[in-house]
Amino acid sequence: MRDEVIGWRRHLHRNPELSFQEEETSRLVYETLESFDGLVLSRPTPTSVLARLVGEEPGRTIALRADMDALPITEKNDFEFTSCNSGVMHACGHDGHTAMLLGAAKILVGMRERIRGEVRFLFQHAEEQPPGGAGQMIEAGVMEGVDAVIGIHLSSYLSVGKIGVGYGPRGAAADTFEIWINGKGGHAARPNKVVDTVAIAAQVVTNLQHVVSRNADPLDNVVVSVTRIAGGTTHNVIPETVEMEGTVRALQEEAQEKVAGTMERVIEGVTEAHGASYSFEYQRGYRPVINDEGVTQVVEETAREVFGEDAVELTPPAMGSEDFSAFQHEAPGSFFSVGARNEEKGITYPHHHPRFTIDEDALPVGVKMFVCAAFELLDVEPGGV
Ligand code: NI
Repeated sequence: MRDEVIGWRRHLHRNPELSFQEEETSRLVYETLESFDGLVLSRPTPTSVLARLVGEEPGRTIALRADMDALPITEKNDFEFTSCNSGVMHACGHDGHTAMLLGAAKILVGMRERIRGEVRFLFQHAEEQPPGGAGQMIEAGVMEGVDAVIGIHLSSYLSVGKIGVGYGPRGAAADTFEIWINGKGGHAARPNKVVDTVAIAAQVVTNLQHVVSRNADPLDNVVVSVTRIAGGTTHNVIPETVEMEGTVRALQEEAQEKVAGTMERVIEGVTEAHGASYSFEYQRGYRPVINDEGVTQVVEETAREVFGEDAVELTPPAMGSEDFSAFQHEAPGSFFSVGARNEEKGITYPHHHPRFTIDEDALPVGVKMFVCAAFELLDVEPGGV
């Protein structure tokens, strides 16, 4: 099994595809699942795959998720299975996620007579690109009747052999915004004749810092960052318009919901005070990843039983975002990490780096976690689920 999973991972690594373009990846996944004989297969969207393993007896329905897309990065690794698709790279470990879930599917198909209920395998497209594949799969009905869902992310921050588990908020909501400050352009030597969009934009940026420091609950985790500001063409002309964009991150959904309103109030107040006008566009991104207590308990206990007490690490939340959160909005779920870092082998580069890779010893760990947690979630009614 181990060699087979590594083989799938390497094949996927060599042939990465961008979000929403996972044609060959989903074809390989579909055909591989078909060869296991015993799964009900479908294509919820053009580049995703749903596999259902219906047990002999009725019971709960649980879902296991892997994302399949790669990133627009030119790989700088020198493997025999380095990306053949120039400018595209599996730099986040999704090749490993897909291979691990294929491995888990193969094992679980072989144990079908022991399954009470249903296991659903969600091979998701487009995690890296909002609006994200998870929402589209949900619209296609993949979560209907699901009692619990789990997902794994391989982690280059966690040593191989470790399982990173956490309760409650795990990953941030990630929204984006654009702001246009509209004033009155003119000669830089006659500021009294213009409405200076550059000076007003500077005020807006400064005042937006108050959205977090003076408006958000100090116990909430909110970030507002203006990341791009553009306006003007030369030294003696005040531009008509300055544009800005940025991101809002929050670990709590309620906190996230308040931010857009507060931002607009600040932008409106500052621009009006100086005689300018504005446009503000706020785009909701992924929801925050919030782990369910009961399902996470099952994951944690499974990890301790299978890999020993020392294997489990309770890890803090991070401000990165993940559309696994969409599945968690439909059913109680838990998203956890499987360590893939190995300092001795030089496997230490962060995710989304051109030299990112995983220690493949992590793959059997992930397969085992999927399989064992699946049985636990099917058989035990976890508290609160
Ligand atoms: Ni990822």
